[in-house]
Amino acid sequence: MLIILSAEFCFLHVSCVFPGLCSSSEDLDVRLGFDLCTEEHDFLCKRKKYVAAALKKVLQLEEDLQDDEIPVVAIMTTGGGMRSLTTTYGSLLGLKKLNVIDCAMYLTGLSGTTWAMANLYRDSDWSWKDLEGKIDEARKHVTKCKMGSFSTERMKYYSKELCQRKQEGHRTSAIDLWGLIVEYLLHDGKDIHKLSDQQQAVDQGQNPLPIYVAINVKDNYSTLDFKDWMEFTPYEVGFMKYGAFIRSEDFGSEFFMGRLMRRLPESRICYLEGMWSSLFSFNLLYIWNLKNPLLASFAEEESVLPMRPCEQKTQLFTPAGPFSSVLRGALTDRISVAQYHSFLKGLQLHKDYLENDNFCRWKDTVLDTSPNQLTETGEYLSLVDTGFFINTSCPPLLRPERKVDVILHLNYSAGSQILVRSCKYYAEQGIPFPKVVLSEEERKNLKECYLFEDAETPGAPILLFFPLLNDTYQSYKAPGKLSTIAKHLE
Ligand SMILES: *[C@@H]1O[C@H](CO)[C@@H](O)[C@H](O)[C@H]1NC(C)=O
Ligand SMILES: *[C@@H]1O[C@H](CO)[C@@H](O)[C@H](O)[C@H]1NC(C)=O
Ligand SMILES: *[C@@H]1O[C@H](CO)[C@@H](O)[C@H](O)[C@H]1NC(C)=O
Ligand SMILES: *[C@@H]1O[C@H](CO)[C@@H](O)[C@H](O)[C@H]1NC(C)=O
Repeated sequence: MLIILSAEFCFLHVSCVFPGLCSSSEDLDVRLGFDLCTEEHDFLCKRKKYVAAALKKVLQLEEDLQDDEIPVVAIMTTGGGMRSLTTTYGSLLGLKKLNVIDCAMYLTGLSGTTWAMANLYRDSDWSWKDLEGKIDEARKHVTKCKMGSFSTERMKYYSKELCQRKQEGHRTSAIDLWGLIVEYLLHDGKDIHKLSDQQQAVDQGQNPLPIYVAINVKDNYSTLDFKDWMEFTPYEVGFMKYGAFIRSEDFGSEFFMGRLMRRLPESRICYLEGMWSSLFSFNLLYIWNLKNPLLASFAEEESVLPMRPCEQKTQLFTPAGPFSSVLRGALTDRISVAQYHSFLKGLQLHKDYLENDNFCRWKDTVLDTSPNQLTETGEYLSLVDTGFFINTSCPPLLRPERKVDVILHLNYSAGSQILVRSCKYYAEQGIPFPKVVLSEEERKNLKECYLFEDAETPGAPILLFFPLLNDTYQSYKAPGKLSTIAKHLE
C-alpha cells in the first residue's frame, strides 16, 4: 500500500513539474529542463568578449563584431589512450599559436583527451600561458617508469583511498582503482583537484568551457542497443536526453525524486578520469591479474600506456597480501563500469517526454518506447568510456541550445570509420550535421584539413576536420611558409 501511494505521489509530483504549470521545480535539487544552466549563460556572455577580440585579430577584421555576429566555435577532441593525451596537448599548442583557442567557446573531450583537459583546467589561466611548460610536465610523466604503480607502498595508498571512498558512501569498483592508477601516471603525489574546482578556470570567460563526456549503459544491453549520453562541465553533470542536470559538486550524492537526500563528498577528479577513460582499464588490470613483471610486450600494443624498461626493480604486489577486501575486490572485478548513485532515482518520465524534441534527438535505445524501463528506475548509474560506443565527444555540441556554428574536429582515432559512423548516427537521429563525403581515394590520401558544410540544413554546424598527419607540412613549416628544404628544392 505504502509503495503504491509513494509511486503515485511521485508521478503526480513530476508530471506537475514538467509542463511548467507550477513552480515546485525550483525547489528540486535536480534541474529539469533542456536549457543551458544560468552559469553557462553567464559564462557565454563573458567569453564573447574574448572571442570577439580574438576573431577580429585572426580574421583581420576592421570593425568590431556585434554580439549577434559572434559565432560559437568549439574544439572537439576524439578518443584514444596516451596518444590522445599527447595529441591534445600538441593540437592545443598549435591552435594557441594561431590564436584559435581564444576564438573557441567550448572544448570537449572523452577518454584519454580528458586527462589532458583535466590537467590544463587546474590552471585557471591555462590558455593565456605558454603551453610548453605544461607539455614538458606531461612528457615527464608519460615517459616515467610505470612500475611504481605496482609498488607495495602504492598499493597501500590505493587500499586506503578505496576504503575511504567506500566509507564516504560511494560504490567502489575496479574503475576507481584505475582512476588512482591514472592519478599515479599523470601526477606526483595525491591530486586533490575536483571537477567543480574548474569553475575558477571559466568564471571570467578566460578559457573555453570544458565538456567531458561519458555514456550510461545498462546490464545485458550492448552499447548499440542502450546508452545515454552524459555531459560533465565544471557547473553541471547531466543527461542531454532527459534534460536532468545536477550541480557538479553533487555528482555521486544520493538523490530521491529530484531531491538531494544525502550529500557525499565530491569525488576527486582522478576517479572521473578513470571513468571517462575506462576503456583502457582493461589492459592494466589484466596485467595486474597476471602478476607478470614482464610488461614489455604491452608496449608494442597501440600506445595505451607506453612502458619502458625500468632501471630499478620495484617490488611487485600480489593480491594475497595483507590488504583490504575493497582493494582485493577491485582487483578481481574486471567489469569496466563505474557506478554512481543515480540522481534520476524516483523520478518518473512523464509521457510528455516522448514528445519532446530533445528527448527524441537522443532516442536511440531499444527501451525508448517504454520509458518506465529507462534509466530512472535504477539505483545506480553505470558509466563507461564513450569509446565503447564511438570515439567522439561531439554530442554535447549538437544540443540545439548551444547553437554551435563551427566545430573543429581533431581526429586522433584509429580507423577510417569514426567520422562516417558519427555522420550516420546523427542522420538516423535526425540531428542536423553536414554530410561527409570522402571518396575511397581521398580516404587513402588524406590531407591535413577538410571543410564540410550543409547550407541547406538549418542548424547544421560547419565542420572542420583535421586528421592527424603530416602531408603538406613536409614542405611548409607554417601556413604559407615554405620550409628551408622545400625552398631549396624549388
Ligand atoms: C575507440 O578507440 C580505442 C583506441 O583507439 C579503440 O580501442 C576502440 O575500439 C575505439 N572504439 C570504437 C567504438 O571504435
Ligand atoms: C542479465 O542477464 C543475466 C543472465 O541472463 C541475469 O542473471 C541478470 O539478472 C540480468 N540482469 C538484468 C539487470 O536484467
Ligand atoms: C582520422 O580520420 C580518418 C577518416 O575518418 C581516418 O582514415 C584516420 O585514420 C583517422 N585517424 C587519424 C589519427 O587521423
Ligand atoms: C612533417 O614532416 C617534416 C619532414 O619529415 C618535418 O620536418 C616536420 O617537422 C613535420 N611537421 C609536423 C607538424 O609534424
